[in-house]
Amino acid sequence: MRLSRILGLSIGLLLASCATGPKEVIDVDNALSYCNRQVQRTLAELHADSIDYTMMPRNIAADKNSWHCRKATPDEWCAGFWPGVLWYEYENSRDEIIREEAERFTKSLEYLSQQPAFDHDLGFLMFCSYGNAYRLTQNPHFKDVILASADTLATLFNPTVGTMLSWPRNVEMLGGHNTIMDNMINLEMLFWAARNGGDKRLYDIAVKHAETTMKHHFRPDNTCYHVAVYDAESGDFIKGMTHQGYSDSSMWARGQAWAIYGYTVVYRETHDRRFLDFACKVTDAYLDRLPDDYVPYWDFDAPDIPSAPRDASAASVVASALLELQAYCPAERGSQYKDAAVKMLTSLSSDNYRSGDKRPSFLDHSTGHLPAGSEIDASIIYADYYYIEALTRLKRLSLGNDALASL
Ligand code: GLY
Repeated sequence: MRLSRILGLSIGLLLASCATGPKEVIDVDNALSYCNRQVQRTLAELHADSIDYTMMPRNIAADKNSWHCRKATPDEWCAGFWPGVLWYEYENSRDEIIREEAERFTKSLEYLSQQPAFDHDLGFLMFCSYGNAYRLTQNPHFKDVILASADTLATLFNPTVGTMLSWPRNVEMLGGHNTIMDNMINLEMLFWAARNGGDKRLYDIAVKHAETTMKHHFRPDNTCYHVAVYDAESGDFIKGMTHQGYSDSSMWARGQAWAIYGYTVVYRETHDRRFLDFACKVTDAYLDRLPDDYVPYWDFDAPDIPSAPRDASAASVVASALLELQAYCPAERGSQYKDAAVKMLTSLSSDNYRSGDKRPSFLDHSTGHLPAGSEIDASIIYADYYYIEALTRLKRLSLGNDALASL
C-alpha cells in the first residue's frame, strides 16, 4: 500500500481547512454515510407503493417531507440527477443493490438518445446518468447511448453564432438564438464523445461554444448573464439578460456556478491556458462576494440580503468544481480553492443545511427559480447530485488520488 494511501486512510478522511478564520473540519466518511442513509430512505419511500422507474425525485418543498417526483420526459431537465446520485452512491458503497437500482432508473432515459433534442438539457440528462454508468461499469451499451446523445445535442449548434441553442422553444420570446450559461455543463459530454469514438467535430463545437460564451456572456467584472441572445443569421450578439436571476445585471448564483464548473471542464479537456485563466477569474468573482458560511444567497444582488433565500445547489456545484480546479492552479491559489471547497462542504454538512431526519434529501435551502415562485428554499435533486459528487472527489483526494479518478 502506498504511503500516501496509508496516510490518507488514517488522517485523510478528517480534512481541515485552515487558510483563514475559524478552523473548519469535515469528516468525509461521516458525510458519505449520511448520504447512504438518505439514499436508503429515498429508495424506501419510492418502493412504498409499486415503484415506477420513470418517476425521478425532483424536489421537496420547505413545508413537505417527501419527494415530489417527475416523469423522465425530454422537458424534465432534472431527470438524470437521481440516477447520477445512485451511481455515486454505488461508487462509494459498492452495494450491488444500489447498482441495480441505478441501472433501472438510468434505463428510463435511454429513449431520449433516439429522438431529436428537445433542448440543451440533454447533456445534463444523459451525462449525469449514462456518463457515470459507463464510468463505473464500462458497459459498452452505455457508451453507445452517450455517443448517440452527443450527436443529438450537437444538432443544436449554430456555426454562424458559435454556440448551441439552449431553448428552441423560446427563440421568439427571447428575440433570437438563445444560449444560457447552464449550457456550459453540456460541453463535457461532447468532449467525452470526441475522445471515446464519437465524431471529432464534437470537440470543435465544444471549444467554439466555450470561446463564444467567454466573449459575450460575461460583464467586465467577470460575472455572467444567465442568457445571451444572438442573431441566428448574422451571428451578432444582441443582448445579455436574466431568466432565473434577480435582474439582467445581477450575479445569479447558480449561473456563476455553472460558469466555474464549465470552464474548469473546458480547461481539463483542452489544456488551453485561456480557459484556465478564465475559470480562475469567474471563480474569484464568486468567492470575493460570498457570505461568511460560503453558501451564496440565490442571487448575489438580491435586494433583501441578508433575508434572501440561499442556494445550496450553487455551493455544491462550486465545491465540486473547485476540487478539480485546484489541481490545475499554482500551489498557493490551488490551496485557496481547495480550502474554499472544504469550507463550502463543511457548511453544507452542518445542521444548517442538512435535511437530516426531517426529509430524505441530502440538503435543504436550494433555490430553483425564484422569479417564477418555484422551488424556493427547497431540497432540489441537483444540489444533492453535486454534493455527493464533491464529497466523492474530496474522498479521492484524501486517499492521495486524483479528484476525478474513480474510487
Ligand atoms: N439549468 C437550470 C437551472 O440551473 O436552474
